[in-house]
Amino acid sequence: MEFSKRMDHFGTGIFAALAERKAERLKKGGEVIDFSVGAPNIPPAPHVIEALTEAAKDGRNYVYALRDTDELREAAAAWYERRYGVTLDPRKEIVSLLGSQEGLAHLAMTIVNEGDTVLVPDPCYPIFADGPVLAGAELYYMPMRKEKGYLIDFQEIPEDVAKRAKLMVVSYPNNPTTAMAPDSFYEELIAFAKKYDIIVLHDNAYSELVFDGARCGSFLRFPGAREVGVEFNSLSKTYGMAGARVGFCLGNRQVVEKLDTLKSNIDYGIFLPVQKAAVAAVTGDQSCVETTRMAYQRRRDVLCEGLTAIGWKVEKCAATMFVWAQIPEKYTSSDQFAMELLDRAGVLVTPGSAFGPSGEGHVRLALVQDADVMERAVRWIRDSGILD
Ligand SMILES: Cc1ncc(COP(=O)(O)O)c(C=O)c1O
Repeated sequence: MEFSKRMDHFGTGIFAALAERKAERLKKGGEVIDFSVGAPNIPPAPHVIEALTEAAKDGRNYVYALRDTDELREAAAAWYERRYGVTLDPRKEIVSLLGSQEGLAHLAMTIVNEGDTVLVPDPCYPIFADGPVLAGAELYYMPMRKEKGYLIDFQEIPEDVAKRAKLMVVSYPNNPTTAMAPDSFYEELIAFAKKYDIIVLHDNAYSELVFDGARCGSFLRFPGAREVGVEFNSLSKTYGMAGARVGFCLGNRQVVEKLDTLKSNIDYGIFLPVQKAAVAAVTGDQSCVETTRMAYQRRRDVLCEGLTAIGWKVEKCAATMFVWAQIPEKYTSSDQFAMELLDRAGVLVTPGSAFGPSGEGHVRLALVQDADVMERAVRWIRDSGILD
C-alpha cells in the first residue's frame, strides 16, 4: 500500500521510543508514573455532569446536531462578556470546535495554499505546526527564549518572511514554557499583524490555570484584535471536560465564517447533550474554576518543592498545567535524560526537543497526577540516583 507524504510528517521519533520503553517496562511488571501527556484528570462540576446526563436521557438528542445550538453560542458570548469583558455577536463571531485541537488542525486549511508561510512558535505545541503542515504550509519558527521571558520577539522575524506570512499561531499562557504575556506583547502582536496583513490565531487554553493570585485575560480585549484574528478557547482544562471535546473559535467574523463553512462539510456538530453540558459549564456556578486552579497549584507546589529538595532545582510555573524543567547539568540532551529517567526511575516526561529545537535542555512534566503520586515520583527519582 502507498500512503501520502503528508503522513511522513507524523513521526515515530522520541514519543514512539518512549512509549515503547514504557510498554516494555510495564510488561516486565515494572511501574511507571506518567507525566508526559497533558490529559486532565479533574472531573467536571456536578451540575455539568447533571446537564449531560439529563440531556442524554432524551432520545430526541441523538440526531445529528449539524451545527451549534443558539443556546450554546449565546452561552459562549455571555461567558466572554462576563469573564473577559469581550462582547461578541453569537451568530457571526463564534463557532464551536470539537475541542480546540480540532480547530487547530483545520483552521490553516481555510487560510493557506500550498507553499504559503505560517509563523509558529518554537518550542511549539505540536498541532500549532501540524495543522498548517497538513494544509501544505511552509513553517517559519519564531524562537521563544528564556532570557526574553519566552516572549516572541517580532523584531527577529525577517521582513521578507513577515511579508509572505499569512497566518501566525501564538499562545500564552504557553504550553510548554508556561510563560504568560504582558499587555504590551499583545499590542505589539496586533500592530505587527496589521502591518504585514497576517491572520492571528491566539490559543487561550490556559487563561484559568494561572497561579499565585495572578489573572489572565483574552487576546480579544485588545483594540484591533478582532480585525486581525481569532482566539481559541477550550472547556477541557477550565471545566475538566477534555473527553467531551468542546472548544470555541471566537473573534474575526470572516475567519469564523470560513471555519464554520469548512466544519459544516467535515463534521456534523457536537453531540447535543455535550452542547447542553457546555452551556451548564460556562453559565453555571463558576466556583469549580477556582477549585480546579487551586488543585493544579497544589500539584505544582508538591512537585517543584519535592524535586528541588532532592537536588533538581525546578522553577514553579506561573501558569498552565505543566512544569518546564531545565535538565540537570550533567545531561546535554533532553531525549537522553528522559530515556534515563524512565529506565532508572520509572518516571515518564516529555523531552523538550519534542516541541522544537528551542525546547532542547528542558523536559515537560504535566501536572496530571494527584499530590500523593507526585510525592512517590519524587522518591523514585531520588532513590534512582539519577541526580547524583
Ligand atoms: C495549548 C493547547 N491548545 C490546545 C490543546 C487541546 O485542547 P482541547 O482539549 O480543547 O482540544 C491543548 C491540550 O493540551 C493545549 O495544551
